[in-house]
Amino acid sequence: MQPTIFLVLGATGGTGRHFTARALADGHRVRALVRTPGKLAPHDRLDILQGSITDPIDVDALVTGVDQVVVMLGDKQAQQQATINTAFVRRLVPAMRRHGVKRFLYQAGGLSRPYGGRLSLPLWIIRNTLARSFIGQHRDNEAVMAYLATEASDLNWMVHRAGIFSDGSSKGVLRRSATKFSVATFRDCADYNYRLLDDAAAVHTADFSAYS
Ligand SMILES: NC(=O)c1ccc[n+]([C@@H]2O[C@H](COP(=O)([O-])OP(=O)(O)OC[C@H]3O[C@@H](n4cnc5c(N)ncnc54)[C@H](OP(=O)(O)O)[C@@H]3O)[C@@H](O)[C@H]2O)c1
Repeated sequence: MQPTIFLVLGATGGTGRHFTARALADGHRVRALVRTPGKLAPHDRLDILQGSITDPIDVDALVTGVDQVVVMLGDKQAQQQATINTAFVRRLVPAMRRHGVKRFLYQAGGLSRPYGGRLSLPLWIIRNTLARSFIGQHRDNEAVMAYLATEASDLNWMVHRAGIFSDGSSKGVLRRSATKFSVATFRDCADYNYRLLDDAAAVHTADFSAYS
């Protein structure tokens, strides 16, 4: 990958901190908007901006000079009340257009329904039983996917509908799949996201990832 400037949302989260560490280790620059800067170790190629996506932040300043935008955001409680990710993405995408930033990766969950698609019966049952407390997060992720599909086809967006279970070590290499779904580690999901950004065939997809 060419030296790249990533704007990372969710850099302090389960997936985001592995993604950020990987990008920095590979010589790239990361700009991160975080609520608590102390959660991130300083690095000379890491630019930390303090703020919340629910603040009236200057989205133009956020995307200026950036090559790629990676969103790995989640706040289960806040998303129970409002689609905060969608509201933020709706502000971010026009700013990306204004600054010529085309590539956008959004991590949703495997239990979030892709736009125009449906969940298999087993996943639908899990979503509405065991994972019922995440319903706000799924609704928000689904609203983001609908927005991208219907109002942002000019961007090279891609959605990873991840399945995550633990923060353990790597269990293998995840590959994109329309049908197979693995319960993976945060590290493997982050590595997958990192590779997906370079996969032209992934543009305008909202697939699962599965261990090969
Ligand atoms: N965890 C899972 O089991 C799982 C499974 C499948 C899919 N997913 C999906 O993957 C995505 C990311 O999940 P994750 O588990 O990697 O993340 P996570 O560990 O839940 O962390 C969420 C990240 O979002 C940040 N964030 C939340 N609200 C914010 C706000 N208002 N302003 C700025 N930053 C904010 C958090 O910052 P703070 O550090 O300040 O809290 C944190 O960095 C979500 O869409 C989720 O649905 C998760």
